[in-house]
Amino acid sequence: MPADTAAEKPALIIAKFDKALHDRSAFSCGFGPIDNFLKSSLSDHIRNGFVTAWIATAEGDRAVLGFYTLGALVVRAGLGPAKWQRAGVPDIPVIYIRAVAVRTDMQGQGLGTALFVDAMKRCLDIADQIGAAAIVLDVLEDEHFERRWKFYADLGFQLLGDPENPHRVFIPMADVRATLG
Ligand SMILES: CC(C)(COP(=O)(O)OP(=O)(O)OC[C@H]1O[C@@H](n2cnc3c(N)ncnc32)[C@H](O)[C@@H]1OP(=O)(O)O)[C@@H](O)C(=O)NCCC(=O)NCCS
Repeated sequence: MPADTAAEKPALIIAKFDKALHDRSAFSCGFGPIDNFLKSSLSDHIRNGFVTAWIATAEGDRAVLGFYTLGALVVRAGLGPAKWQRAGVPDIPVIYIRAVAVRTDMQGQGLGTALFVDAMKRCLDIADQIGAAAIVLDVLEDEHFERRWKFYADLGFQLLGDPENPHRVFIPMADVRATLG
């Protein structure tokens, strides 16, 4: 077998969470609350219709390598860009990413970016079916905050300016469409 074939990585699969197909037991992203959410709360959140979850695995292996969730949210129009404020409605529908994480040993290899590209494409499809003006998330605060902030800024996220959620960022769906559409 040629050397370059021997080193080939298994294909990455991103699929809707399925308890029977995805093994969460060894997942750790270095941030306890996210690990606990995946292992202890995710199934309830899905059952209650709060989120859907999208799981990255390597072909032929059930271990979760990374994941993100999507849910619905409204944000106050006054917090966002001028065109939201001019619209004359109090609330703006958006898609909320409650959690995104990559297993520690897989971090820094592009999987987080791949998950975001997948999430953004999925959000564009959703926004084709039901109004959603932006993607929103809260940037977690710990010692990696600056690095994480840069990651989101590079993807095009901007600060929402919500005093109740000071690390809440958004990317207008129009920007997502312009980048990926
Ligand atoms: C943030 C995270 C999802 C990024 O995934 P990833 O696969 O490491 O990211 P990629 O390899 O695609 O992109 C690399 C960028 O992610 C960021 N990043 C990488 N490792 C990170 C870490 N441990 N913590 C925070 N940000 C990290 C950096 O901005 C990095 O860019 P750089 O290499 O130029 O500094 C991942 O590191 C993670 O799961 N961290 C712990 C949980 C978390 O912070 N979730 C996000 C909550 S808002």
